[in-house]
Amino acid sequence: MIKKIFLVALIAVVAISCTQCPFTSKKSGGVKIIETVVPERPAGQKDVIGLTVDPIDTVRVGFIGLGMRGPGAVKRWTFIPKTKIVALCDLRPERVENAQKILTEAKLPKAAEYSGTPDAWKKLCERKDIDLVYIVTDWKHHVPMALYAMEQGKNVSVEVPGAMNLKDIWALINTSERTRKHCMMLENCVYDFFELTTLNMAQHNVFGEILHVEGSYIHNLEDFWDAYWNNWRMDYNKNFRADIYATHGMGPACQLLDIHRGDKMNVLVAMDTKAVGGPAYIKKKTGKEVKDFQNGDHTMTIIRTENGKTIQIQHDVMNPRPYSRMYQLTGTDGFANKYPKQGYALRPSEELKKVAPDHENLSAHGFVPEDVKDALMKKYKHPIHVELEEMAKKVGGHGGMDFIMDYRLVYCLQNGLPLDMDVYDLAEWSCLAPLGQLSIKNGNAPVKVPDFTRGAWNKVKGYRHAFVKK
Ligand SMILES: NC(=O)c1ccc[n+]([C@@H]2O[C@H](COP(=O)([O-])OP(=O)(O)OC[C@H]3O[C@@H](n4cnc5c(N)ncnc54)[C@H](O)[C@@H]3O)[C@@H](O)[C@H]2O)c1
Repeated sequence: MIKKIFLVALIAVVAISCTQCPFTSKKSGGVKIIETVVPERPAGQKDVIGLTVDPIDTVRVGFIGLGMRGPGAVKRWTFIPKTKIVALCDLRPERVENAQKILTEAKLPKAAEYSGTPDAWKKLCERKDIDLVYIVTDWKHHVPMALYAMEQGKNVSVEVPGAMNLKDIWALINTSERTRKHCMMLENCVYDFFELTTLNMAQHNVFGEILHVEGSYIHNLEDFWDAYWNNWRMDYNKNFRADIYATHGMGPACQLLDIHRGDKMNVLVAMDTKAVGGPAYIKKKTGKEVKDFQNGDHTMTIIRTENGKTIQIQHDVMNPRPYSRMYQLTGTDGFANKYPKQGYALRPSEELKKVAPDHENLSAHGFVPEDVKDALMKKYKHPIHVELEEMAKKVGGHGGMDFIMDYRLVYCLQNGLPLDMDVYDLAEWSCLAPLGQLSIKNGNAPVKVPDFTRGAWNKVKGYRHAFVKK
């Protein structure tokens, strides 16, 4: 299907510039790059870079999807001032009922309920008293719900990955551009404490020019497979190759590299192992032999950007490994790493000596000592964490980052500011699934990453969070 609609041609790109790919062009005089169609921007429509909506004094929200993840979001919102939880929706009434208890415990009025039929959520989107539709369903439902909500004049926040194929990605972009409504993906990992501190360090040039970043989703899901509604997640793995859950790695990586704020991804290549864990799990559970299980146990995607940077992303939800999002950066003056050991390696500099006056022999060959790391993290604590860390840790949600994500979303809506993540971030961080699949199914061929901004990727110079000017 993807192939039919979007793979117009395998084009031989004869003249790849030497700076982009010196080896390949020298060796063969050209390589084949798969290009997908970039739909023309509809007439009269503009990009949504820096999109703002009128300030919303009290943010009124409706939640769709109250499975494992959804109720946590409802609970977090009960802690955010000047918000109103207007409506709750899940296919299954008992899930709505359970979420109502969260409101009762927080001494808040009950919300309107939508459940029982597969399209009850439409009525929620049609309500006149909602500013934001917050979508926490399985992946198949993200896009129809987000599109319908925007068409009904609502801003949208949608869980990760925002969309699973290019047709849907472009539909979200076109609809956000036409309706001028926010469509933000709920990528929480960009707010984690090490990540946001390190981003702040990067923005203060501590690492020099950042050249390479790595991220991953390495999480053995054995204990969870049976808990997903209607087996949606294992089914997805059964039917699709490539990295279908790339956004936790991509989000922090792309913010470090200022993707569509001065740089853009140009080309990717994906490669996977054979599928072992998925079919073995199904065999163990059902006795059935699955011969055509698609998702490889371990998938790697590498990406090169316009400014000559690289990104490496990994996905493994099958094997017994410690949880890891990798999160690693290499810069001309320094290095940062989160999993399995958090740390920094930096060239000795006058700046570093100021942070670590008691250390004589600092060198870039190893991690800085723990006390120096702590001093750096204190010095470069992000203003968002300065304000929110204490409360975030109290409210929780993956150690606090989920609360920070929700709080920032509300803050930006209340103040009429651009959101921290726009629909192009959703597109760029989610596109590894369809583009990686094209790469893998065509002998790991390079695939051009479309410019989802359609020409606006260089308008903003450098990724920055928006704050009210004091
Ligand atoms: N950001 C993170 O850290 C994180 C963590 C976990 C899950 N997620 C994402 O959250 C989403 C939900 O995951 P989950 O683990 O809660 O899955 P889940 O299967 O537990 O929950 C999905 C819910 O959607 C409901 N649903 C399905 N169809 C519906 C419909 N037509 N109308 C209303 N409700 C419907 C189901 O009844 C179910 O309660 C996924 O997109 C997942 O990727 C993100």
